[in-house]
Amino acid sequence: MKQKLIIANLKMNPSTSEECLDLFNYYQKTAERLKNVDFVIAPPFIYLKDLIEKGAVAAAQDCFYEEAGAYTGEISTLMLKNVGVKYVILGHSERRQMGETDEMINKKLQAVLRNGLIPILCVGETKEERDSGKKEEVIRRQIIKAFNNFKLLTFNFELVIAYEPVWAIGTGLACNPKEANKTHQFIQNILVSDLGFGISDFQIVYGGSVDSQNIGEFLKEPIIDGALVGGASLKKEEFAKILAIADSL
Ligand code: PGA
Repeated sequence: MKQKLIIANLKMNPSTSEECLDLFNYYQKTAERLKNVDFVIAPPFIYLKDLIEKGAVAAAQDCFYEEAGAYTGEISTLMLKNVGVKYVILGHSERRQMGETDEMINKKLQAVLRNGLIPILCVGETKEERDSGKKEEVIRRQIIKAFNNFKLLTFNFELVIAYEPVWAIGTGLACNPKEANKTHQFIQNILVSDLGFGISDFQIVYGGSVDSQNIGEFLKEPIIDGALVGGASLKKEEFAKILAIADSL
């Protein structure tokens, strides 16, 4: 069985590298003792190198799809690889809301895989989509479009899908774990039946208001392989508790 994957998505926090290192050092102390959990930290780009030098397994929160050139403000997957980044979060709903399209995510996914990094592809429906019965249609579209034109690539790579219902992100209203598990089952079926992945080629993690109170319930579900944690990953004791609970299951 694969290790549980717990990812701290710090988003655009904290505002100094000292604070970021302090958070990481605190979590790493807990993480070093764990046997069943892979701990990944996703800081802002500017702190990646510092954390990796201190031994972090790091994820970038985004990337650009071209390798180099006149793209002011962008960071390439090659640059990420060269500083030792292992994972890249793609298609987070906060980026989709800023205008990132399925087509851009498709190109980014190809760039991530080209450089041997592991994508954490975020999918999930908004409240309106959920209320109008479109949840499954939206998730299917996001996954199928992300993998559009993938015939050229071999399937010999690791993949993480993060199911993050948009209405659950940062709201304190986490999805019911049983419902999340059903959605993970739906995602698993798309990956296996529509895209031809093997069942052990990917992990599906849940994200959206995960905290130390609910992490246990999520991880007890059979197809929830870990969590993408936002707000709670900025609270030292709370996040260390999440790591410890995840390890105990
Ligand atoms: P949250 O964020 O844990 O604060 O809901 C999760 C995410 O956006 O990845």
